[in-house]
Amino acid sequence: MCGIVGIIGKAEVAPLLLDGLKRLEYRGYDSAGIATLIEGRIERRRAEGKLGNLAARLAAAPLPGVIGIAHTRWATHGRPNETNAHPHATARVALVHNGIIENFQELRDELSKAGRKFETETDTEAVAHLLTHYLDQGLDPEAAMAKMMPRLHGAFSLAILIADRPDIMIGARRGSPLAVGYGDGEMYLGSDAMALAPYTDRICYLHEDDWVIVSRDAATIYNNGKRVNREVKKTALSGALIGKGNHAHFMMKEIAEQPAVIGDTLQAFLNPLKRQIELPPLPIDLAKISQLTIVACGTAYLAGFVAKYWLERIARLPVELDIASEFRYREAPMPKDGATLVISQSGETADTLAALKYAKAQGQKVLAVLNVPESTIGRESDVVLHTLAGPEIGVASTKAFTTQLVVLAALAIATARARGAIDAQREAELSTALTEVPARAAEVLNHDARLKEIALKVAECRDVLFLGRGTSYPIALEGALKLKEISYIHAEGYAAGEMKHGPIALIDDNVPVIVVAPSDDLFEKTASNLQEVRARGGRVIFFSDKAGIARLGDAAMAAIELPTVDPFVAPILYAIPVQLLAYHAAVAKGTDVDQPRNLAKSVTVE
Ligand code: F6R
Repeated sequence: MCGIVGIIGKAEVAPLLLDGLKRLEYRGYDSAGIATLIEGRIERRRAEGKLGNLAARLAAAPLPGVIGIAHTRWATHGRPNETNAHPHATARVALVHNGIIENFQELRDELSKAGRKFETETDTEAVAHLLTHYLDQGLDPEAAMAKMMPRLHGAFSLAILIADRPDIMIGARRGSPLAVGYGDGEMYLGSDAMALAPYTDRICYLHEDDWVIVSRDAATIYNNGKRVNREVKKTALSGALIGKGNHAHFMMKEIAEQPAVIGDTLQAFLNPLKRQIELPPLPIDLAKISQLTIVACGTAYLAGFVAKYWLERIARLPVELDIASEFRYREAPMPKDGATLVISQSGETADTLAALKYAKAQGQKVLAVLNVPESTIGRESDVVLHTLAGPEIGVASTKAFTTQLVVLAALAIATARARGAIDAQREAELSTALTEVPARAAEVLNHDARLKEIALKVAECRDVLFLGRGTSYPIALEGALKLKEISYIHAEGYAAGEMKHGPIALIDDNVPVIVVAPSDDLFEKTASNLQEVRARGGRVIFFSDKAGIARLGDAAMAAIELPTVDPFVAPILYAIPVQLLAYHAAVAKGTDVDQPRNLAKSVTVE
């Protein structure tokens, strides 16, 4: 969702703020804006659309000032135009906000009655007026914040400037992340460590309901009327990590990084000499739990979908799987001897966090597979299994997905061992299959040029179907999700066997059907479904291995031969061609691959 950065410093902050926003643009790109204090006055520059528009505005009308706040917006309340762009301001207060103020209408009505004039359609403006209202009553900023916090309902992180107080910047958070960065005579606020990476590696993550007064050399944190201390940590993120390298897009760079980051992640969970999985100490006994509930959103949910097949099949553990936005309100009874697993790249997804809280309230221990362990979900979980994917900037998840699969595969093997469902020999075979994945993933990337040719044809179509069975079914769903979100081509994923129950009516020669079918024990079943499609004039693009293509390649309009591997690890490898296909189709269509319309990287609102 929206990105926030604030700096109270020594030199002019607008160029630094703009640089910070560049690192946060993946969080939202409907509009952007900066406010600074100049001789006790609030000055703003804002622009609709991408950050380039704001940069152009700043070039034409520079913004001096050594204290400032900045924002890149993913619109929730109010159209994505300049008026609704943050920072929102009154004569006394300027602020930027990530999240949703749920009681904004009530606050707006109350403040309007008191004579305050609103200019925007946003929920955020109510906060600027409310704080101004308290300051106008003569309260100092600390007292005004203390009075305001309980009046705000919903989720928010805020960075605030007060006109006649160039010595302080204020931050606050509830249900949405905010970090304080410690520099040398200069301090920062940011919605994640990535925004602050170029300035400092000393970061303090605020806790739920914290608010903070930041001066040039200190941060005083409050919670519920009391001063509190929060740990300042050194973050491993460095400014150098976050570039596109030689690639045209972050997404392509992140696809290409997969052999390396899959290897890094594996190393953390697999002992290659013993050919055994080694997990960190868990708060649950994998041998004894009666059920695992897996909850996540989007691509992370699809990683959980693959894990369900793995855990049920090889570990004989019943798995309940749901998307977090449904699960959180479903009031599902949860077994006392069960556990919950949440999966998230960002660790900030609002629905996943709410699902986690529900599970905890039901007495469950929570395991989290996360790419950002110091995130809110990381702090709320009992144990974090860390995907070592590194920062993922492209809005479409790629390397986060395959590293999630690696961690989940390791968890499935460890669970199977704990439950006596596999012996040491089988564990060694599965572990060996996993250790081969980085090298096989590199081979899959060699198909890039051929996938690009196929993608050029796909890019001309209006609808595309993806089919798969078993663990290839979630990969079919992921292929469809990737294609629709970045190329805007309508795509659906189906369980191959479900086609004849309705979707087969969609088949004609304008609808390519992408069949994901490694040679596994379900191959012949999928082969029959492929023939059913073909018999109805469907044009098949076939992803399989040597044996599969020898058996069925002739039936396909195009085939990609992927490495022959243990079917257990096939979903990790077959995720890569569906990513490449979507990427090249999007490039061919000229869409904004890294920042597709209407989307944002980390979804911190419901
Ligand atoms: C799709 C995609 C999204 C995310 C989803 C969950 O490519 O990236 O579907 O997977 O928004 O986000 P996280 O993993 O951060 O919880």
